[in-house]
Amino acid sequence: MANFAIMGFGTVGSGVAEVLRMNGAAIAGKLGEPLQLKYILDVRDLSGTPYAGVAVKDFSILENDPGLDVVVESIGGAKVALDFTRRALLAGKHVVTSNKELVATHGKELLAIAREKNVNYLFEASVGGGIPVLRPLFQCLAGNQIQEVVGILNGTTNYILTRMVKGGIPFDEALKEAQAKGYAEANPAADVEGLDAGRKICILSDLAWGREVLPSDISTQGITAIDLQDVAIASGAGYRIKLLGRAMKLADGRQTAFVAPHLVSESCPIATVDDVFNAIMIRGNAVGDVMFYGRGAGDLPTASAVVGDIMDALEHRAKRRELGWSQPAELIQLETELPLYWYLRGELTPPAGCEVLSGKAVIVGPVPGAEAKALARRVGADTLLPVLR
Ligand code: HSE
Repeated sequence: MANFAIMGFGTVGSGVAEVLRMNGAAIAGKLGEPLQLKYILDVRDLSGTPYAGVAVKDFSILENDPGLDVVVESIGGAKVALDFTRRALLAGKHVVTSNKELVATHGKELLAIAREKNVNYLFEASVGGGIPVLRPLFQCLAGNQIQEVVGILNGTTNYILTRMVKGGIPFDEALKEAQAKGYAEANPAADVEGLDAGRKICILSDLAWGREVLPSDISTQGITAIDLQDVAIASGAGYRIKLLGRAMKLADGRQTAFVAPHLVSESCPIATVDDVFNAIMIRGNAVGDVMFYGRGAGDLPTASAVVGDIMDALEHRAKRRELGWSQPAELIQLETELPLYWYLRGELTPPAGCEVLSGKAVIVGPVPGAEAKALARRVGADTLLPVLR
């Protein structure tokens, strides 16, 4: 019998309990032992629910129980969750989480504690919800030099953009729908201002190149300023507007990571990924491009990844999964050096050699961001967005 606890019984935590209820017998068969939910730690009153018998309010009960193998941290944020994660790892528990804020900002420290205590700290659910992408990145693609990771990393903003473009509904209404479906963060600013996608591209970057990239060090632009004129021009010219996280390693070893709305060519598979779905494309020097697609948010999809990690942690009790990243990466900024294609819209005379999308909009490049910005100023462009072709 293996025992686990859930800390934080919100969307993800309750999803984990539900996956265990649905699939407990199959999970036990695969593990070779039953998996039991021993505690739920939450400030909410769970009396009168099927979980009343396992509800606790004191973390030290988990910390001091030698029979508890795994702790799921689905509290969110980086305050209480950080304290409880540190203490659970120090107490010799494996910890599994969906908390991208915590992994992106404190992952290096927590993985070091896990290494010292010979336990696992696993976080597949922190990027792409139910999509298995982290394990392929650090395991199946380990024989590659990774050149680029790019993707739609936030289900809420992809849902909002899809509803605005295809449903013709305004931003506020689309956001309310996303919140009602349980996709959005408690504070929707984390979604619509690109912070959530920023945390996820940092985690992908940490794992791809083994060096820490902190969310506070990358450029992050959300979808709140997207103009419906650009949405219409893009659609008419074979492009879609998508919020992308991108991370690249240049030939000289320097790295970049950023989040920005992009024009994505319809010939790129990412362009057609709609609603709450996420898609992450990884380019390796042996494999070429691989793409991972699925539900990037929601209770059961996210719980699917959490439960997979619980099982993996238990299967790697004796020899933990070697996972971690080291010193800070040397970053270049999108705004200055990175050569990309750029979309410009305004009352402009198309510069020579550009792709003309409409009377008012062009694509130039590849040019560094600083040059694109200077050009946008010179021609009086109202919009400047990177392009993925
Ligand atoms: N708010 C996040 C999203 C949840 O919409 O993608 C999953 O991380």
